[in-house]
Amino acid sequence: MASKSVLLLLVVFFASLSSLSFSEKIIVGDSNHWRFGFNYTDWAMKNAPFYQHDSLVFMYDPPNSTTPPHSVYLLKDLNSFLACNLKGAKLVGSVVQGGGQGLEFVLKKRKPHYFACGEHSGVHCNLGLMKFSVFPIKDSCHG
Ligand SMILES: *[C@@H]1O[C@H](CO)[C@@H](O)[C@H](O)[C@H]1NC(C)=O
Ligand SMILES: *[C@@H]1O[C@H](CO)[C@@H](O)[C@H](O)[C@H]1NC(C)=O
Repeated sequence: MASKSVLLLLVVFFASLSSLSFSEKIIVGDSNHWRFGFNYTDWAMKNAPFYQHDSLVFMYDPPNSTTPPHSVYLLKDLNSFLACNLKGAKLVGSVVQGGGQGLEFVLKKRKPHYFACGEHSGVHCNLGLMKFSVFPIKDSCHG
């Protein structure tokens, strides 16, 4: 009886351990954070694959007289992404939400996600390279 409950405890322990280690928090751009001029397409390619339930953390300071504003949008589809077209895009993080611990976005769905900075009507996305796409795959450890 006693050994059975110890076994059960162990199973619960290892189950929670694996769920902790397999959903990661990933800082977008690493030490570059979320800024103008860093190649996020390149970053996303080097950091792939991304898994369902991972979270992306966007870090950017709120704007002031010396810090330009940034934001995070999910663009509608591939064409919007290629053109940096914000029409129909969904705001994920406003200009003030990237401060402190950053803005966290959980990759709940297994579908392409097209992220971009929405500032200056797409200029940060186009010229600033502040865009990337991820297609989270199934976490193999969760069946
Ligand atoms: C950004 O990185 C991608 C992937 O490595 C590359 O194809 C592209 O040319 C780069 N863009 C610029 C402007 O350097
Ligand atoms: C603007 O914000 C940056 C980053 O948070 C900070 O380092 C800087 O001191 C601020 N500048 C002013 C003028 O408030």
